[in-house]
Amino acid sequence: MWQSYISGVGAYVPERSLTNFDLEESLDTSDEWIQQRTGIVKRHWVEGGVATSDLALKASEEALSSAGLKKEDIDCIIFATLSPDHDFPGSGCFLQAKLGLEGIPAFDIRQQCTGYLYGLSMADSFIKSGVYKNVLLVGAEVHSKGLDRTPEGRNVAVLFGDGAGATILSRKEAGADTESHIIAYDLHADGQHAKELWVAAPGTGNGPDHRLSPAMLEEKLHYPFMNGRQVFMHAVKRMAESLTNTLKKNNVTVDDVDLFLFHQANLRINDKVGEMMGIPAEKVFNTIQDYGNTTAATIPLGMRDAVKAGKLEKGMLVGMAAFGSGFTWGSGLMRY
Ligand code: UT7
Repeated sequence: MWQSYISGVGAYVPERSLTNFDLEESLDTSDEWIQQRTGIVKRHWVEGGVATSDLALKASEEALSSAGLKKEDIDCIIFATLSPDHDFPGSGCFLQAKLGLEGIPAFDIRQQCTGYLYGLSMADSFIKSGVYKNVLLVGAEVHSKGLDRTPEGRNVAVLFGDGAGATILSRKEAGADTESHIIAYDLHADGQHAKELWVAAPGTGNGPDHRLSPAMLEEKLHYPFMNGRQVFMHAVKRMAESLTNTLKKNNVTVDDVDLFLFHQANLRINDKVGEMMGIPAEKVFNTIQDYGNTTAATIPLGMRDAVKAGKLEKGMLVGMAAFGSGFTWGSGLMRY
């Protein structure tokens, strides 16, 4: 019987870092508002012609080196992003070419902030069923180029950052419970709420004629719209619900878990989830202060930083949870 485990992790954020103060004038916002409402202190935004797959490439190279694998050992790419290099083909294909791995399959998945957990379930299933040995699972985003960076867009623009996180899921014979392996995941979606957090254009759902028109640009339909309060409420409820179920189903208590890696949309969301579940604050590894919300990149980026900070070591029991546009949400449990 096969199991999958995380054999390598890497991450990358662009060099340019912007504090809340750097945004105060152009977005008519304040450091005080952003910190109080979200916990964000700064974020990284790309410069020039840098694309999502460029960030993914750097994160993937670090993951390969941390796994001690050659790129030729990778036999499948899963790329989670909501901010692809181009409309089509998927960024997985661009990353594959940049890695020089012609021929291997490259999937793009579209589950926004829950993208990493959805991708984890795919990678784990491919490995358990014997299809692939080493799957490169990347979450990467260049949000900055898709934001309305004017005062009109400030409610969304201050929240998002660019970055990438990559993990390699590798195959091993099923062993003791205490060995590194992916234990479980729990995934959900509810499309009734799709328009509470979305980008309408370009898209075939916009009317009879074109996917994108000057009128749509005029209406700013190519920028994200978010009903912040609705999203906040659902995020707290669903993350706590899914993670509680995952722990219960696997006979694990909060005390048994060594570290929690949550999606990073708002520090207040994570504090509330922690409070509802009785998780001590020091067991939640938050990174939103430094990166803002990096959607699909968030969990692997946090994983890499937790390893670097000495907070995550091999054999630790890790609980994960995420919520995002779709709505999509879920949780996961693994021995790192
Ligand atoms: O990863 C995907 C999932 N995303 C999330 O989970 C995000 C969930 N939602 C949230 O985190 C919060 O709803 C926000 C942080 C987005 C907003 O916080 P809020 O406490 O819900 O604020 P609000 O949207 O209700 O706005 C309150 C006030 C408004 O002013 P008035 O009408 O009270 O005078 C806004 O105009 O804050 C104003 N405002 C701002 N002020 C300064 C909104 N954005 C800003 C800003 N700077 N950037």
